[in-house]
Amino acid sequence: MKILAIESSCDETAAAVVEDGRKIISNIIATQVEEHKLYGGVVPEIASRRHCESIVGVVDEALKSADMELGDVDAVAVTYAPGLIGALLVGVNFAKSLAFASGKPLIPVHHIKGHIAANYIAHAELEPPYICLVASGGHSQIMRVESYTKFSTIGRTMDDAAGEAFDKAARAMGFPYPGGLHIDKAAKNGDPKKYRLPRPHTAGPYDFSFSGLKTNVINLVHNAQQKGEELDINSLAASFQYTVADILTSKFVSAANEYGYKTAALAGGVAANSGLRSLLEERCAANGIKLYIPPVALCGDNAAMIGSQAYYEYTEAGITADMSLNAEATKPLV
Ligand code: KG4
Ligand code: ZN
Repeated sequence: MKILAIESSCDETAAAVVEDGRKIISNIIATQVEEHKLYGGVVPEIASRRHCESIVGVVDEALKSADMELGDVDAVAVTYAPGLIGALLVGVNFAKSLAFASGKPLIPVHHIKGHIAANYIAHAELEPPYICLVASGGHSQIMRVESYTKFSTIGRTMDDAAGEAFDKAARAMGFPYPGGLHIDKAAKNGDPKKYRLPRPHTAGPYDFSFSGLKTNVINLVHNAQQKGEELDINSLAASFQYTVADILTSKFVSAANEYGYKTAALAGGVAANSGLRSLLEERCAANGIKLYIPPVALCGDNAAMIGSQAYYEYTEAGITADMSLNAEATKPLV
């Protein structure tokens, strides 16, 4: 089954053709990041306008590079939630038009389920059940993936998502948006033990809280500026990155052990972080847990992951939408 998938929840306009949930036939991404960088973050109205301008070309390109026409695909899939409402609406309405015009089924996909499914593209042998750590710009969660379409939550962030903390700490350190990647690069030349940062307490053992940690970094930078002191930014980046990776991985591995999982996956934009990847690999290996991580190219927002999850939504759960499908800015995974 070949699915044409569309993703426009934030600042990438993306379209892909994916076969049977596992094989990428084409995968096109038009990023707006350079423009949002000027403002230090995503400007929703600009994002919507750029999606409107790009979507025809991006979908065209996805079909062209798959050597296909709309009539050759078996279904149209789209991210309908969560995300920036004006951005999501562009993808949703475009997908609805394509499905209506071609008479193909329309499959709505939750963005975070798509991030998790990026692992199916990269790892042919991965099948549920497994435990998944989701770390993106808007989400930090420990999920039980019971089947391809059935999920339950073990823990979640009480305040900021990991990616949000990365971006805000990075801004304080003087890096451009999106800062996660810059912290990752700077951390390679820093000492992760130089700055002692707080590890926040949470009521639930598997919940996260990153807001205090983020504020701590911001205060540290501001205090140093006021006193005219020089900070070792590489080491601050390394210390921050290690602290976030330590919190995420220690809770995740404890949850895997408590719930008896021997198979695990990582997903979301922050899964691209080299410190998080290596610490999680190390700790999973030490606990006899087989870990799957998507290649960096599939960690950020893309439509291939949406096409993968759509295949399972349709074949396992029989999910389709009609022309009343609407976008939703917030929607929990379960
Ligand atoms: O999943 P994603 O592309 O968008 C959402 O669904 O939210 O995640 C974007 C987040 C941003 O906060 C970005 O800074 C972060 O992922 N990110 C990273 C890295 N690459 C992207 N954070 C840390 N290290 C990276 N290498
Ligand atoms: Zn995302």
